[in-house]
Amino acid sequence: MSDPVVEETVKGHKRLERNITLLAVATFITVSIGGLVQITPLFYLENTIEEVEGVRPYTPLEQAGRDIYIREGCYTCHSQMVRPFRDEVERYGHYSLAAESMYDHPFQWGSKRTGPDLARVGGRYSDEWHVQHLENPQSVVPESVMPQYGFLKETDLEIGDPTATLTALRRVGVPYGDDDIEQAEADMLAQADPNADPGDLAERYPKALIRDFDGDPDRLTEMDALIAYLQMLGTLVDFDSAAPLEELAEEKGR
Ligand code: HEC
Repeated sequence: MSDPVVEETVKGHKRLERNITLLAVATFITVSIGGLVQITPLFYLENTIEEVEGVRPYTPLEQAGRDIYIREGCYTCHSQMVRPFRDEVERYGHYSLAAESMYDHPFQWGSKRTGPDLARVGGRYSDEWHVQHLENPQSVVPESVMPQYGFLKETDLEIGDPTATLTALRRVGVPYGDDDIEQAEADMLAQADPNADPGDLAERYPKALIRDFDGDPDRLTEMDALIAYLQMLGTLVDFDSAAPLEELAEEKGR
């Protein structure tokens, strides 16, 4: 310890570590600088989420299904975010984009996976499969620990006030149009009724699936809403026709 610089530093540090007030003040200053460096740039960005073609707000029926998903606690066992790792992408499909959950209030990313990720489950199975799986998961996957949700098929969907739901969501930034809000209840009824006239539902909500989901066209049940929601998950963005990364890079001249 003959180096005078080292000696000075050690002495300074001793003072800092033995004086609780000084240590607290110095810690506060250090953490503040770190925080500012991370947070300040965000205030100068117009948007932290890049918009992606195809992402649209949920139809009133999908939204109702989403509410049931949350009510039943499906998120306690299922995440909805494919991480950008090779094993996940190979199992579930393209990794999730921030834009795909930009209209989620609250988002369903999750950190616990007792069951598989559901971000891209839409279209993977038939409606009949979902009905059977939700009624009795063990009849499809014998070792499954998923609870049975058969009662959803016996419970009429409580329509409530979809106009109010959509209005509330619009207030927090989901871009529902006036038409969507006015026709919310009609849209909800029409999406699961093959005999109803869906009007311009499919134009206002591209890729919306219009059919009976639970196998009982005479009733609108909670099962209809939940399956309508599950079947749209991850289907809005067309990844097949998206340009591969190398092409994008070339276009941008990199
Ligand atoms: C106790 C944990 C648990 C809860 C709660 C739970 N699940 Fe599951 N889920 C699982 C497990 C485990 C599997 C995998 C085995 C199977 O397919 O049943 C699974 C599988 C699934 C699958 C098939 C996914 C695939 O890619 O094969 C769907 C869809 C699904 N669950 C939907 C739901 C919905 C909707 C709810 C809420 C109504 C729910 N789960 C609640 C544990 C759970």
